[in-house]
Amino acid sequence: MNLEKLPLPIQKLLIPEYSGDVVYECIACSAPYALDQFLYTCPQCKSLLRLKDQRFHELKKIDGTVWREIFDYRHMLREEALQGIFLFKELLFPSIPLQDVIYLGEGHTPLVRSNPELSSIVAMEFFVKNDGLNPSASFKDRGMASAISFINYSIRTRGLTEVLGICASTGDTSAAAALYLSYLDKKIVRSVVLLPKGRVTPQQLSQPLGSGATVIEIPGVFDDCMKIVEQLAERYQVCLLNSKNPIRIMGQKSYAYEIAQQLEYNTRELVVVVPVGNAGNVTAIMEGFIDLYSLDIIPALPLILAVQSVHANPVATWRSTGTYTPVSVKPSVAQAAMIGDPVSFPKVKKLVEDYYAEAFLTVDLQEQDIIEGMLEANRHGHVVCTQGGESIAGLKKALSQGIVKKNQTVVVDSTAHQLKFSNFQEMYFQKNFPGGYNICPQDTFINKPVQLEASSAAVAQYLHLKEK
Ligand code: F0G
Repeated sequence: MNLEKLPLPIQKLLIPEYSGDVVYECIACSAPYALDQFLYTCPQCKSLLRLKDQRFHELKKIDGTVWREIFDYRHMLREEALQGIFLFKELLFPSIPLQDVIYLGEGHTPLVRSNPELSSIVAMEFFVKNDGLNPSASFKDRGMASAISFINYSIRTRGLTEVLGICASTGDTSAAAALYLSYLDKKIVRSVVLLPKGRVTPQQLSQPLGSGATVIEIPGVFDDCMKIVEQLAERYQVCLLNSKNPIRIMGQKSYAYEIAQQLEYNTRELVVVVPVGNAGNVTAIMEGFIDLYSLDIIPALPLILAVQSVHANPVATWRSTGTYTPVSVKPSVAQAAMIGDPVSFPKVKKLVEDYYAEAFLTVDLQEQDIIEGMLEANRHGHVVCTQGGESIAGLKKALSQGIVKKNQTVVVDSTAHQLKFSNFQEMYFQKNFPGGYNICPQDTFINKPVQLEASSAAVAQYLHLKEK
């Protein structure tokens, strides 16, 4: 819709003019650093950085109700750069001019209500927010849209002639990074991903290969790859595209903004269930809700339920024991979240201390519950990944423990598409999980193709069809 067709008072607010004053800020010593560089840790104290809009308080001059109207009307506007996560530009990354925004179709994923059967299995009705419906089929596209828009902006404004984007990945970050980087000028931009050999699914591996990235496989697990890219980012001129880069977190905050918008900004009694690996996503979601709350766009912060497998549960263990210790991971069907020492843990800790306190809950789950959470959901109209299954199983467990109540509104995060993780479904159906997963497939869930001869009679007989 054209701007002129929308109500006059709101028209002048729909194309964002506010550019804020965004800087990197150290989460420990609060030192600010200009955005004219790629930076991931504080040069002084080595702590993690976040992005801070130093003029954020000015946004409070606009009433929460008006912000809601701005975001809702923007949905109707035909303005390419505002179609995706940048719909929330003033909150999300105001300093990026619209001309530099790269939009590949990310964001605005649906909330899908559980049907009566699934609701009764889980013991309450809930919504799945399916981030598998992003362009590279995971939530990582949100953060990558902001990171690659920033690279695009940096190339134009700083006259960069060489940029090497690099990330370590359990599969999805690399797919998203390679996709978004492939949109930029190949004469300037190179794309490299580091993967733990044999620890990403074939579909995930095919994605960066298809996007033309240099794919480096190394022995070990994600944490080993992460250490290497961290060292590279320390010593060499590369642009790190893991969520250690706070610009990734910036884009991923859109998940929280969208939930609020989809629920008509009613966040009272809201619970958001998030699978946690490197802890970037849960950080972004918590930060996103804080933005909305501090501008009176929502009336309350939600409860955050962080879920992990018992095979990779440093955050859940920290919450239950009060002590944080990195863990050695064991094989997990929630393989994308199979991380023993999450890079963003210090951010989670700080957000919990400063804002979420009792509103940050955790559960850890057996592998059997995670895979069956996925299978059960997908038998009832969903297309969730193993991490989505983990969220649903996490909700079920939290309900049984009484830490989530049936009168609450629950949104579970399915972070990627079912098809990326179909090998785990296959292992379940074929009963051939390698040792270490501790999964014992149950016949009730198993489904296999039936081999019949090529005749309608054979099919009719097999299906016990009644003649007309
Ligand atoms: N779900 C999926 C599908 C993921 O790919 C990841 C992380 C997570 C959940 C956990 O999110 O790390 O922000 O806590 N994948 C990363 C990757 C590590 O490399 O693709 P997190």
